[in-house]
Amino acid sequence: MDKKELIKKAIEARSLSYSPYSHFAVGAALLTKDGQVFVGANIENSSYPLCMCAERNAIYNAMLHGYKKSDFVMLALSADTDGPCSPCGACRQVISELFPKDGVIVMTNLKGDEQETTIGELLPYAFSEDDLK
Ligand code: THU
Repeated sequence: MDKKELIKKAIEARSLSYSPYSHFAVGAALLTKDGQVFVGANIENSSYPLCMCAERNAIYNAMLHGYKKSDFVMLALSADTDGPCSPCGACRQVISELFPKDGVIVMTNLKGDEQETTIGELLPYAFSEDDLK
């Protein structure tokens, strides 16, 4: 599974989005070291704050199948945005805890724009478990 294939999975996952309120479908695909792919899509609710993003659903999907932070290598996300779709702040916080520092995050859109980044770039000075000590 290479980056291009993972992006394709993220785009395909948009079809699983339940987004009747925003009409903004987001798809994500998370690659593990052993070649498994776990997808996520945004799932909304009429009680708006309960909406869950694609990236978090992909990570939680993988974890509920027994995978953990050290198993993850790449996370792709895609939406119909002008530039590469960027993870929201809540997702950045979750990614910083559950996705490795050196893991590759690929932000994409439907036009084929893509940008690689890391969680360190997306969320410097993140709050973490260390702050609770
Ligand atoms: N959304 C995601 O799924 N991921 C992001 O990183 C940005 C926002 C979803 C949440 C909501 O269902 C819709 O996009 C509009 O904000």
